[in-house]
Amino acid sequence: MLQKIEELRGQIRDRLTAVKSSDELKEFFTKYLGSKGAVSDLMKELGKLDKSERPAAGKLINDFKNEMMEDFKRVEADVANRERAAKYEREAVDITMPAEMREPGALHPVTMVFNQLADIFAGMGFTVYEGTEIEDDYHNFTALNTPQDHPARDKQDTFYITEDLLLRTQTSGGQIHCMETMEPPFKVIMPGRVFRCDDDATHSPMFHQMEGFVIDKNVSLSDLHGLLDKLAKAMFSPDTKTRFRPSFFPFTEPSVEVDISCCECGGKGCRLCKGTGWIEILGAGVVNRNVIRNCGLDPDEWTGLAFGAGLDRIAMLKYGVNNIHILFDGDKRALEQFRK
Ligand code: PHE
Repeated sequence: MLQKIEELRGQIRDRLTAVKSSDELKEFFTKYLGSKGAVSDLMKELGKLDKSERPAAGKLINDFKNEMMEDFKRVEADVANRERAAKYEREAVDITMPAEMREPGALHPVTMVFNQLADIFAGMGFTVYEGTEIEDDYHNFTALNTPQDHPARDKQDTFYITEDLLLRTQTSGGQIHCMETMEPPFKVIMPGRVFRCDDDATHSPMFHQMEGFVIDKNVSLSDLHGLLDKLAKAMFSPDTKTRFRPSFFPFTEPSVEVDISCCECGGKGCRLCKGTGWIEILGAGVVNRNVIRNCGLDPDEWTGLAFGAGLDRIAMLKYGVNNIHILFDGDKRALEQFRK
């Protein structure tokens, strides 16, 4: 028995020093130290011994087993350390490498213009109302005093979805929604996308408007002028002048086009203002009595002001963009110039 143990000890030590990986270690364990391994086999041989010799031999094998287990554990810890170190080496990160830079995003120029306008109007007590892009004929046209045979309803201008549903051509339909859902008096701005069949350097089939709408008692055209003058000065520069030109919209009476003194030349005349010194920025007017009546309010009691500004147009003027498509083509090289 002693001899067998010595032989096995030599074998086990040789093998243990040769073990290189945790896989080999596992194999080694099963072969020698596991329940069916060589050391356990020694135990089975106890049966062949004389009864009187068994206790001493049993102790011998046990001691041997414990000794081998200790050797095994030492090697096991060694292998684990070595493998961990190799893993760290493999997965090492070079912290001196330059980082991958992420470019910061920026707000779209149209968003910046709206935020600025929203700020100005919030200061005057306006709240924001957002309508829907799909509108029915009634809100987009009929209720706005735009009769059935009005040229604005032409398929050339309007994207119809069904007989009755269309992509709104203006944010003015929001006026009707406001009067249907809110108790006057109120002051709102309504920003949003609008759609018209129109496409050239200054027109895009999708563009942005912001409607301003006030319903109160005794408001007049001069209140509108005050409001829009404030808008122009805050939006462009404090010495910007505004002027009203008579115009026509079915839903306002009187109606005006609003010009600002040219933001490029200050009014002297240049290419941008085509030598006139003035640039048109929006349409506006006193809300037509018919529109107020259409919404169930008494036009002798309630009066209103409305204006509709093209946000893209204002953005183009502010940022010196001469083609509206630059705003919507999504070309980063163009858009990143508008960070401010
Ligand atoms: N909705 C008009 C347009 O699209 C602008 C406008 C709004 C005019 C409100 C008067 C009052 O051109």
